[in-house]
Amino acid sequence: MDHHEIPDFSEMQDEDDAFGYSLRPETLSEFIGQEQAKEQLRIHIEAAKKRGDALEHVLLVSPPGLGKTTLAKIISNEIQSNFKQAIGPVMERLDLASTLTNLEHTDILFIDEIHGMKGHVQESLYPAMEDYQLDLTLGQGPASDVVQLQLKPFTLVGATTREGLLAGPFRDRFGIRIHLDYYEAEDLQQAIRINSAKLDINIEETAEYALARRSRGTMRIANKLLANVRDYAQVKGDGTLSLEVVEEALEFFGIDERGLNAQDSAYFQTLIEKFNGRAGLKALAVALSEDERTIAEVYEPYYIKEGFLALTPGGRVATDAAYAYFDYPVASQTSLFH
Ligand SMILES: Nc1ncnc2c1ncn2[C@@H]1O[C@H](COP(=O)(O)OP(=O)(O)O)[C@@H](O)[C@H]1O
Ligand SMILES: [Mg+2]
Repeated sequence: MDHHEIPDFSEMQDEDDAFGYSLRPETLSEFIGQEQAKEQLRIHIEAAKKRGDALEHVLLVSPPGLGKTTLAKIISNEIQSNFKQAIGPVMERLDLASTLTNLEHTDILFIDEIHGMKGHVQESLYPAMEDYQLDLTLGQGPASDVVQLQLKPFTLVGATTREGLLAGPFRDRFGIRIHLDYYEAEDLQQAIRINSAKLDINIEETAEYALARRSRGTMRIANKLLANVRDYAQVKGDGTLSLEVVEEALEFFGIDERGLNAQDSAYFQTLIEKFNGRAGLKALAVALSEDERTIAEVYEPYYIKEGFLALTPGGRVATDAAYAYFDYPVASQTSLFH
C-alpha cells in the first residue's frame, strides 16, 4: 500500500480564537439551552459508560452556528475519549481507513459536513459502523486482495446542515439523531452574559438582551455581534456596553431589530422586485452573485423560521410578512402577479 498522508484537522483553527480565548462550553451542563438534546445525550452517554461500551453513532443536524461541533467535542469530553475530526467532502477511502484503524476503544470520530462525503467513501463506512469491520482492498486488478480488518468499537459523530442529502441506509446507521433548534433570545442572552464575563466585558442587562434579539437564534452570531460591538465600544466609548452604545453600534454595522442586514435586504429586494416574489434557487443565486448552498443552508432557514419565506414546489415565495417588513405593498404580490 502506498504511503498516504492523513490530513490532520485536529489542530484546525478554532473560530473562537478571534477572542484570543475559547468560548466553547466543554461539558453538557455548560452547553446552554437545547434541553431535549442534552437530556437525550446524557442518558445515552451514561448508559454506554455503565456498560463500558462505545456510544452509538450520533448524527447532529442543524443550521450553521447552533453548536454541532461544540456538542461533538462535549460528547468526547463526557466520555473521556480521544477526539478525531475530519471533513466529509475531502475524505478519501484511504484517509478513512487509516483514521478508523487508529481509533481506540470508545474514541470519537467527528465528521463534519457528512452529507458531502463521496458515495463510495460513505459506503465503506457501513460495515465499520455496523460491525466495526473494514474491508480493505490491497493492490489492483487480478492480483488484488481484500482483507477484513477488525476495528475497535468507536463512535462516529456526524454533523450536517442537510440531513435530506444523506442516503437512507447511511442515516439509518446512526443510533442517535439529535436536532438542534434555533435558540430563544433568553438562551442567547445567557451566552452573551457568560461570555462577557469570561472576556471581562462590562455589559448592561438591557444591552445583553438587545444583542440576543438580533442574533438570529444563532450562538455563533451572538458571539460575533458581541465581538463587533466590543470593538466599537472600545474605540467610540470607554469600552462599557451600555444599551445606548450597543444600539449605536448595531446601527453602525447595519443590523436591524430582527438581526437582518444589507445582505438580507438585497435577498428580498431581488426576490420581490426582480422576480415578483417567486423564484428558483438557481435564478436567485445568479441574480445575487451568491453561492446556492450558502443561500439555501445559511440564509433561508432563518427567513423561513421568521415567516418571511416559503419553499414551494414552484420556488421560493416571499410571504406577505416579508412584503410588509421590507416596505412593499402586499397587494402587488397577491392580486397582480399570482
Ligand atoms: N449551546 C451553546 N452554549 C454556548 N455556546 C454555544 C452553544 N452552541 C454553540 N455555541 C458557541 O457558538 C459557536 C458556534 O458553535 P459550533 O458548535 O461551531 O456550531 P456548528 O458546528 O453547528 O456550526 C461556538 O463558538 C460555540 O462556542
Ligand atoms: Mg461546526
